[in-house]
Amino acid sequence: MRLVVLASGNGSNLQAVIDACQSGSLNAHIVAVVSDNDSAFALHRAAQHNIDSRVVIGSRSNRASFNTKLATVVGEFQPDIVILAGFMRLLTMDFLAHFPQRVINIHPALPGELPGTNAIARAFDEFAAGKRTHTGVMVHFVPDEGIDNGPVITSAIVPIYPSDSLADLQQRMHATEHQLLITALTQLTKEHTS
Ligand code: GRF
Repeated sequence: MRLVVLASGNGSNLQAVIDACQSGSLNAHIVAVVSDNDSAFALHRAAQHNIDSRVVIGSRSNRASFNTKLATVVGEFQPDIVILAGFMRLLTMDFLAHFPQRVINIHPALPGELPGTNAIARAFDEFAAGKRTHTGVMVHFVPDEGIDNGPVITSAIVPIYPSDSLADLQQRMHATEHQLLITALTQLTKEHTS
C-alpha cells in the first residue's frame, strides 16, 4: 500500500508510520512526505529515512489554487492512502475530489467532539471546569470539507486524571495517536489486499 503523508510540523505521527513500515508490522510503504512548511521537522524525518519529500507553498487567501497544486504534487506519487498527520491547511474539494476514499485524518478528540485546532488543550480546560471526564483520539476518512469529521475508521478513549498537567495529557494523547494511526492503517491494508 502506497502512503503519502501530509504534515506541517513535528511529524511524530509520521515517525510512528515510518517505524511501523520499517519494522514490518505495517505492510505499507511511505512514498512521499508533503508539507506546506519548508521548516517542518517532518521533512527532516523524511530525509533521515530517505523518503522523498515535497514542499507546496501557497497563499492562504487562494485556497483553490493551493489545493489544486497540492493535488498535482500528491497525485504524482499515486497514493493508495493520503494521511493527514498534523497538516494545518484546510483541504477543499479541489484536492479531495482527486482521492476519493483515500484521505484519512488523525484528530486528537473523540468523534463529534472538539473540531479544529488545540483540541487537547480545550479538552484539558473542559476537564478543569468539570465539564468532561475524558477525551480521545480518532482516525477518520475525509470525504469533504467538513472539519475533523467524516466516517470514523477507529477511535480510542483517553482518560484525564486530576493530577495531570497539560503536558501529561498531551503525552498520553500523542502516545495513543501513534498507536491508533497504525491500527487504522493496518485495517486499511487488510481491506486493500482482500
Ligand atoms: C497531532 O496531535 C494530530 O492529531 C493533529 O496534529 C498533531 C500533529 O502532531 N492533527 P505531529 O506533527 O504528528 O507530531
